[in-house]
Amino acid sequence: MRVGSQGDTTIVIFGATGDLARNLLLPALFRLCRARVLPEGVKILLYARRPYTLETYLSEVEAETLKGRHDADWARFAQRFVGYVQGGLDRAGLAQLHDYLHGNAIFYLALPPGVFATAAEQLAELYLHDESQGYRRLVIEKPFGYDLESARQLDEQVRAHWSEEQIFRIDHYLGKETVQNILVFRFANLLMEPLWNRYHVEHVQITAAESSGLEGRGGYYDQAGALRDMIQNHLIQLFTLTAMEPPSSLVSDDLRTEKVKVLKSVRPIPRHSVNAFAVRAQYTRGTVSGEVVPGYLEEEGIPPHSTTETFAEVKLYVDNWRWRGVPFYLRTGKRLSNDYSEIAVQFKTPPLHLFRETPLDRLEPNWCVFEMKPAEAIYLVAQAKKLGLELTPRTLVLRAPYRESGTEGFDAYATLLLDVLEGNRQHFLRFDEVEWAWRVLDPILKAWQSDDSPLATYPAGSEGPAEAHRILDSEMHRWRPLCSLGEYT
Ligand code: BG6
Repeated sequence: MRVGSQGDTTIVIFGATGDLARNLLLPALFRLCRARVLPEGVKILLYARRPYTLETYLSEVEAETLKGRHDADWARFAQRFVGYVQGGLDRAGLAQLHDYLHGNAIFYLALPPGVFATAAEQLAELYLHDESQGYRRLVIEKPFGYDLESARQLDEQVRAHWSEEQIFRIDHYLGKETVQNILVFRFANLLMEPLWNRYHVEHVQITAAESSGLEGRGGYYDQAGALRDMIQNHLIQLFTLTAMEPPSSLVSDDLRTEKVKVLKSVRPIPRHSVNAFAVRAQYTRGTVSGEVVPGYLEEEGIPPHSTTETFAEVKLYVDNWRWRGVPFYLRTGKRLSNDYSEIAVQFKTPPLHLFRETPLDRLEPNWCVFEMKPAEAIYLVAQAKKLGLELTPRTLVLRAPYRESGTEGFDAYATLLLDVLEGNRQHFLRFDEVEWAWRVLDPILKAWQSDDSPLATYPAGSEGPAEAHRILDSEMHRWRPLCSLGEYT
């Protein structure tokens, strides 16, 4: 069990009426409170522009979180709220916070990325970042910047007032069980590490597929697109954790230094051959889970000629001793056939001379797969003999689950909120990680911005565009189906 920090702490949630706060942050805080791991002194203050009373706000969030069920723990949770403050990011609005904040405070910016800098600056102008009465921490959501240049500018603006120790750049994927387990599985076992390199690994695929569409976030999404929304942060994090060297300790800086080293070793993508390294596509009208859904350009608020990608894939090579020559393929998309995320490592095939004259003359490769969604599990795929007189092979799938889909537990936000309370920065981003992630993707962003690379399409509910195979290096490399291994082997 984690130990909470001492003293009174107020978590101020900016953007309290937005999706992130209502659908993710408050349910996460509720689960922590119900499990009695949210330290007693932690209070919650809501801040947003829309007029609400605390009572109305809480009753709406209760109905959404509990889906109409009664939960006796909600009343206990409701006592944690100290108020709903209506205001914008101006001096007059923010000055109201002085009345509520006396000890430690965490400012969670659940706001559109375009106002992160203003919020950070305005809070500091009012000395709300001043730590004389207790710590003051600033949690900044992704995407951190819009490209390399804007990320640097944002960092400068924030760091002009806040020290690095006060800033928590959050990427909720780093709070996921499976993601944290990559580290443990890789470095607490002898089994895999000797094979985790270019001599034994054929390629790596990292997938985050979603069946949902824009969910009312069209305004934000059309500015961002799949590359900024998912690859620059979540998938790049999965990639660095899979590829990094063992850190000298789990101290945050040692870990983050190793992740940055991976990004620094990524072979720069030549601007003139971006199409050999990346594919972008947009969904058209189609059927998802039996329901006909509109195409991206027909979605509310999307300009009719938008070229924003809703599907993106990228190939990266890590030019270091461990990985030279091994492609890492990253892909993500909205309105795909399934909600499915995994990291899949394909090993090279063993020499086959022993089985030359037998039905075993073609072997399926071994795989190690970390499934993140819908269940959280590790799979190992191996070959064995089928029971019987013939020497016929069969693919064995060994599955080690941690969490089946649909079972409740602490989600990524719950884990990360506790980390902020404890001042544990291990699962938060250092600016150089953010910066290097932008540097890696910058040539792709530039090519896509200048509209000189093709924008493919795919019907909603499909496995992605036909062009998806374009960046794959060999016939041995095929995108895996968007569903759990157990469903198709
Ligand atoms: C968010 C993106 O960061 O991650 C969303 O902005 C996306 O577009 C979401 O849907 C996916 O998160 P998860 O945890 O459901 O895989």
